[in-house]
Amino acid sequence: MRRARIIGTGSYLPEKVMTNADWSRLVETNDEWITTRTGIKERHFAAEGEATSDLVAKAALRAVDDAGLEPTDIDTMIVATVTPDTAYPSTANWTQKKMGIPPIPSFDIGAGCTGFLYGLIVAQSMLLSGVSKRILVSGAEILSRMINWEDRNTCVLFGDGAGAAVLTAEEGESGMLSTFWGADGNLGDLLLQPAGGTAMPASEETVRLHKHTVHMAGNEVFKHAVLRMQESAVEALKGAGWTAEDVDLYIPHQANTRIIDATIRRAGIPKEKTVVTIDHIANVSAATIPLSLDEVRKSGRLKEGDNLLMTAFGAGLTWAGVTMRM
Ligand code: ACO
Repeated sequence: MRRARIIGTGSYLPEKVMTNADWSRLVETNDEWITTRTGIKERHFAAEGEATSDLVAKAALRAVDDAGLEPTDIDTMIVATVTPDTAYPSTANWTQKKMGIPPIPSFDIGAGCTGFLYGLIVAQSMLLSGVSKRILVSGAEILSRMINWEDRNTCVLFGDGAGAAVLTAEEGESGMLSTFWGADGNLGDLLLQPAGGTAMPASEETVRLHKHTVHMAGNEVFKHAVLRMQESAVEALKGAGWTAEDVDLYIPHQANTRIIDATIRRAGIPKEKTVVTIDHIANVSAATIPLSLDEVRKSGRLKEGDNLLMTAFGAGLTWAGVTMRM
């Protein structure tokens, strides 16, 4: 059977590390609160002048190299992000230029923290239908530019970075086995950047009121996150004909360790099979899963033939689950 399969991964984290102690010098917070409430210890922040496409290009070059390909072998590029370089052109377009890739279809996906899994699902259908042969799917964010640096409720939660995967379609047992995705726009107000679009164009007032930064009803999002992460895990497992016991490794979106703990408890997935990277990368929205995926592949924790489950949820609200045999 032909399946969409990941043949290379790469990632890039900006050099600058921002610790919880660093935040405690800027807002009224402390390492103890951030660690116990979220699991985050530190996050990476992009340097001045670095744009999201710079991060994607670095991660993508590593992914292409890992796949044993040249950038010109890629025939489609998808970037999942909520922090694009510009409203238009897309970050994928800018990345294409930075990687020196001649004209190919390239576009962004906006699905909050679920963006990378949405990207995989779109890529799968493009590969299996024959529209594309080698697709680069990336998740990348510079959230440090979109947080309110004075709001302790949100500023400590996010980080910057990019992860990428090269996919192709091949005959065999390896590849994507099942997908599950959804969204509920009725809950959009729970997590959003209100200004900068047509609903609330930029003005002096929107800047003064920090409307270009993340606004989140944390407690509400938390409840939906646990339910949707569990649903995504259960449905993706069902689609693959697996039970929780069949999973060798689980990569959940990393927004909060308490959300991850509640999800694995409900879905019956053991802690030792669950990847936790939030301590050193924080919540990097659409980049979280590809960053974590590259980390476990490169460290050898995820091996060829392993059964992998990934789930995510985010602004939208959106959610998704994907299983694949590596
Ligand atoms: N340091 C110290 N105290 C803080 C901080 C901080 N950084 N932030 C909030 N507090 C205080 C609050 O002011 C509050 O104080 P009060 O009781 O005196 O009013 C107290 O801590 C508790 O605040 P809560 O908001 O109830 O804390 P909670 O335990 O809910 O944790 C958090 C907040 C971490 C945001 C949690 O709700 C959460 O993780 N929510 C989900 C986030 C998420 O998943 N987002 C989606 C992904 S993001 C995306 O898609 C782009």
